[in-house]
Amino acid sequence: MIQVYWKNATSRIVGAPNGVRPLDLAQIEPRIQAAHRAVLAQIRADKLGYAKLPVRTDYRDQVQAVVDRYRDTTTDVVVLGIGGSALGNIALHTALTPTTHNHRTGKRTGRAKVWVLDNIDPPGVADTLRMLARRLQTTMFNVISKSGETAETAAQFMIVRDLLHRRAGADYARRIVATTDANKGTLHDIARREGYTMLPVPDDVGGRFSVLSPVGLLSAAMSGIDIDELLAGAAAMKQHVETAPWQQNPACILAAIHYLMDTAKGKPMHVMMPYSSRLYSLGDWYRQLWAESLGKRLSRGGQEVFVGPTPVKALGTTDQHSQVQLYREGPNDKFVVFLEVLKHPRDARIPDVYGDVPGLTYLRKARLSKLLNAEKLATEFALAQSQRPSVTIRFDAITPQTVGQFLYLYEFTTSLCGELYDINAYDQPAVELGKQATFALMRREGYHDLAKQIRRYKRVDKKYLA
Ligand code: PA5
Repeated sequence: MIQVYWKNATSRIVGAPNGVRPLDLAQIEPRIQAAHRAVLAQIRADKLGYAKLPVRTDYRDQVQAVVDRYRDTTTDVVVLGIGGSALGNIALHTALTPTTHNHRTGKRTGRAKVWVLDNIDPPGVADTLRMLARRLQTTMFNVISKSGETAETAAQFMIVRDLLHRRAGADYARRIVATTDANKGTLHDIARREGYTMLPVPDDVGGRFSVLSPVGLLSAAMSGIDIDELLAGAAAMKQHVETAPWQQNPACILAAIHYLMDTAKGKPMHVMMPYSSRLYSLGDWYRQLWAESLGKRLSRGGQEVFVGPTPVKALGTTDQHSQVQLYREGPNDKFVVFLEVLKHPRDARIPDVYGDVPGLTYLRKARLSKLLNAEKLATEFALAQSQRPSVTIRFDAITPQTVGQFLYLYEFTTSLCGELYDINAYDQPAVELGKQATFALMRREGYHDLAKQIRRYKRVDKKYLA
């Protein structure tokens, strides 16, 4: 199991104003226990859809059926989606396929290349489709949208659908898999009408909690990731965080420390810093989970509270040469979560050259993994010397099991934090106005009044042009 090591977040290491004191832990214990009971009660009452995903076999079987049908004829999978319908796919692909996966040549049955469009960056979309132009017949386009209406995904989809229709003729529908609401919505209706293969987005699971549903599982399985192991890892963590006593419970400890850092220790900036490029995209997944779940104006009772720590991502060692100056000597407002990997799947040994250059002899014969983890420890130590708190999440190795554990750990921790902040961690009301304003600006029917309001707002006042 991955483990959370939290000594460097204590007052013993970083001093009382910055670290968690025994008194802080004693005071928060009843609240954590209550939060844990509340989340378990929601799970038992079947109110937290994401908590069922690790142990649901029906979704896994549906995904596997699609994989079995497409595996032998598919070289590439393009995910059309954004936000919660893309970030989990990117995180799984980055963590669990080799760094050069998409650049490999030769026969690769069962290990399709995965491209996640995510953004609507014009050259990004155009270049990807141009690159795939000669292999459209062997490319699967997995359009993912829970609502079935998101402007970015709809735009990507319409471009692809037109391209396929022109190039693949009547056969175009075979290359599209739509992952969307099982019963309703624009994408659902189109998929039904045009005969696409369909997979469901569970009704009771929000986008940012959906990585272990068909949303994340299809592209992962198509690229050769063992989704059974991924789900097994998540299920093991589910069992652990539901039953372990609170100070040995990684979710309770993480939730308590994150919450105390934000609300009692003056540290609203919560940095996730993997010492592994393969885990870097988990940082983007965490940023969305944390920001949309915990950044809230209203408490559950309707009071204005304006809560939520700001999630930040950084990369070790790269950001030692970019951010650590700020983290050590800038405002002491950050709490760092390191991700550390003990064993990498492949390693490189620094050769025994330049024995006559004193400044380089210490590197001779060392493995890169040793240097990487030494630098992680060095950064943790340096932060502690400046009274900057951190915790470390240790992965023995990056495997589908440990990644599944990590995903579920942070989802459950988010639920506990939602309880501590007393907010609804499962909605995202503030995202809506931007979506509607986009509809209005793009002249979608029904948004006339909002469009008028925006036109007044956007009038350029030359006084402010510099
Ligand atoms: O977490 C969320 O709810 C959002 O980030 C959505 O995932 C994102 O807006 C995409 O929505 P949809 O899947 O409905 O297209």
